[in-house]
Amino acid sequence: MPVITFANTKGGAGKTTATLIVASELLRRGQRVTIIDADPRGWISRWHDLSGRTAQLSVMSGISEDSIEAAVSKARKRGGTILIDLPSSQDALLAKAIGLADHVLIPVQGCAMDAAGGAEVLELLRELDERCGIQIPHSVVLTRVNAAVTTRALQAAKQFLEERNIRTLKHAIAERAAYRDVFGKGGTIQALNAAEVSNLDKAIENSVRLVDEIMALLPERATRSATRKPALKAAA
Ligand SMILES: Nc1ncnc2c1ncn2[C@@H]1O[C@H](COP(=O)(O)OP(=O)(O)OP(=O)(O)O)[C@@H](O)[C@H]1O
Ligand SMILES: [Mg+2]
Repeated sequence: MPVITFANTKGGAGKTTATLIVASELLRRGQRVTIIDADPRGWISRWHDLSGRTAQLSVMSGISEDSIEAAVSKARKRGGTILIDLPSSQDALLAKAIGLADHVLIPVQGCAMDAAGGAEVLELLRELDERCGIQIPHSVVLTRVNAAVTTRALQAAKQFLEERNIRTLKHAIAERAAYRDVFGKGGTIQALNAAEVSNLDKAIENSVRLVDEIMALLPERATRSATRKPALKAAA
């Protein structure tokens, strides 16, 4: 039952999109997924309302700093992978969601290098380690990368992170219409209509590679219990 927290205190960095990409691909793989929607604006919950219900997916809405621990405990009992979508604020909710994670993914826009928000999350992770001896694995995932060109800004972003010994996922998230359109249409990225969404195949392929890389980073114990398939129960 791995818990993956998506965090960046910069708004619009791509947290919710990354959450949905990972959720969609895990659902395609037949795995059970719980998304904890801890953003008061509830983008994931709105997407879920547009989506047909499936027993594999549960979305827990309106989760705050007071309810996140109980929400994760409940989700752990359900089994599968738990994804936490956070708002952009830097507060106790962020600290708790990081503390509960098996892995923290920090989306950073490759072109804009909105690393300031990412750096705040990294600072919190460093404090947890130095003050409390709690080490939480984490990686930056570059987002909204223009798939056609490797921009100089992207190279600069990668170098900046490398110099600071911050792990950056090999597979970035490309800028794709599918990743934008899925919010308005509901359902998974894989269920979008290829006739309506340009380069849907490329978006799906990007999701497969990204999720392969993320799953390989998770502790073996956590992934074993996530892939074990208990009897399905109706989605919450
Ligand atoms: N890879 C992508 N391809 C296309 N559009 C994207 C991509 N990533 C993000 N976007 C778009 O950028 C905007 C911000 O993305 P998103 O909502 O995922 O960021 P966020 O970090 O969750 O923001 P917030 O801090 O406000 O919650 C959205 O309009 C989203 O559709
Ligand atoms: Mg968001």
